[in-house]
Formats: sequence, C-alpha cells, structure tokens
Amino acid sequence: MIEMQKEAWYFQEDTVKNYEHFYQTKYKKADKLEKKLLKKMLDTMGHSEKLLEIGCGTGHFTRWLNSMGLECYGLDLSHLMLKEAKKHWPTGSLLQSESSHLPFKDKTFDVVVFVTCLEYMPNIIKVVNEAARVSRKGIIIGLMNKWSVPTMRRIIQIKRGKNPYYSNVRFYSIFDMKHVLKEALHDNYVIGFWSTTAFPKIFGDTESKLLPFGAFLGVAVKLGEKVD
Ligand SMILES: C[S@@+](CC[C@H](N)C(=O)[O-])C[C@H]1O[C@@H](n2cnc3c(N)ncnc32)[C@H](O)[C@@H]1O
Repeated sequence: MIEMQKEAWYFQEDTVKNYEHFYQTKYKKADKLEKKLLKKMLDTMGHSEKLLEIGCGTGHFTRWLNSMGLECYGLDLSHLMLKEAKKHWPTGSLLQSESSHLPFKDKTFDVVVFVTCLEYMPNIIKVVNEAARVSRKGIIIGLMNKWSVPTMRRIIQIKRGKNPYYSNVRFYSIFDMKHVLKEALHDNYVIGFWSTTAFPKIFGDTESKLLPFGAFLGVAVKLGEKVD
C-alpha cells in the first residue's frame, strides 16, 4: 500500500513546493474557516497540552496549534513535505513516519489531529485505531467533505486527470466517518461534536450542522466514553 503512495504528489518536488503558498492565496478564506472549526473542536476536548498532528505536511496547522501555547508534534510520511515544514518551523518537533504504525507509547498525547490527510491514507481503520492508542482524550478530524460542491469539482478534475493533488484520494462524508469510527474504535468513544464549514457564499461565515454540505467536515471524537 505504501508503495502505491510513492507516486503521490507529496513525493514530487514541484507539487510540494507550491503547497504552503495556497494558504496565502486561493485557500486563504477556507483556512480561516477551517481554523475556526478546528479551534471549536479542540475546545470540546477540555484542557489539553500535548498534541500530535498526523499528516502534518508543511506544518501549517501544527505551527498554528503551537502558537496557541500547546506542545505540538508533527508527523508525516513525506520527507519533502517535512523539509518544507522545517523551513517554516526550524525548531519544530517533526517526525517522518507512517500513520498506521506510530512510534509512540500508548496515551502519549492529549489529542491527535488530522487535517485533510486521512483522505490519502489507504488503511484508514488502522490509522484511526493507532491515533486512539496514542491519545488520552480524543481525536480531531478535518476532511474535504464528500458531500460538497468543491469535492464534486475535485472528482471531475480527477476524472479529467487535471489536478495532481487529488490522485489516490478517497473522500468521506459524516455518514462514512461514522462507519469508519465504529469499525476502528468499536464502542469506546463518542462523537463530541461535528460540523461543516458552511458554503460561504450562501450562508456567510458560519458553520452548518443541519446542512452537512460545507466544504470542510470536522469531527471531534472523545475517547473512553461509550456510544449511546
Ligand atoms: C493534503 S496534505 C495535508 C497537510 C496538512 N495537514 C495540511 O492540512 O496542510 C496530506 C498529507 O498527508 C501525508 N500522508 C499521506 N499518507 C500518509 C501516511 N500514510 N502517513 C503519514 N502521512 C501521510 C502526506 O505526506 C501529506 O503531507
């Protein structure tokens, strides 16, 4: 499975070098909305100090979490993404590793965070299971929502071979994520909160739970609590 990932865009110099720039340009507004939702999810976890961001890429969100005074660690499969991350965060704690076998003891972190990366991981059940093993309180998940207009556009781009960033990707809705969590964590968790960043042009800068069609889906998973 990992062999398959070697062809992915995060192992290509030309695609990696443009990645962080998108947050200052075409994804500037989305970035703001995503951070607002991530912060809300983090608040549902209670007091947290030590965080791991899996699939941290260039460390965009790891740095942001660290700037809130949290002790943050970033982990990623791609040495090229981590090289970029080092440029932006020379003192950061960054580690190259594969997400389905984490090199940490049980309950090392308060919270484990995934932002737009589970989509790229072939063995999602094992990855979520590993995240739960190394986390004390919970897991925060941010995803490109399958039930959204931007993802429909992405699917068309994939079919036309137009966008290298979406090769080997799988999209999830809240419905899919509930199944993934059940399979990975059995009954030992609750979904503390989920929401989507609402489609900005229609709803304004709000979040939308009743309409799960926003571009970015956030799911906050609390561990050690029973599903109702
Ligand atoms: C779209 S990027 C997201 C980066 C960052 N979280 C962000 O939102 O800016 C997806 C990241 O997942 C990483 N990734 C993919 N498969 C992985 C795996 N099996 N283990 C660890 N990281 C992986 C890629 O290297 C890439 O950096």
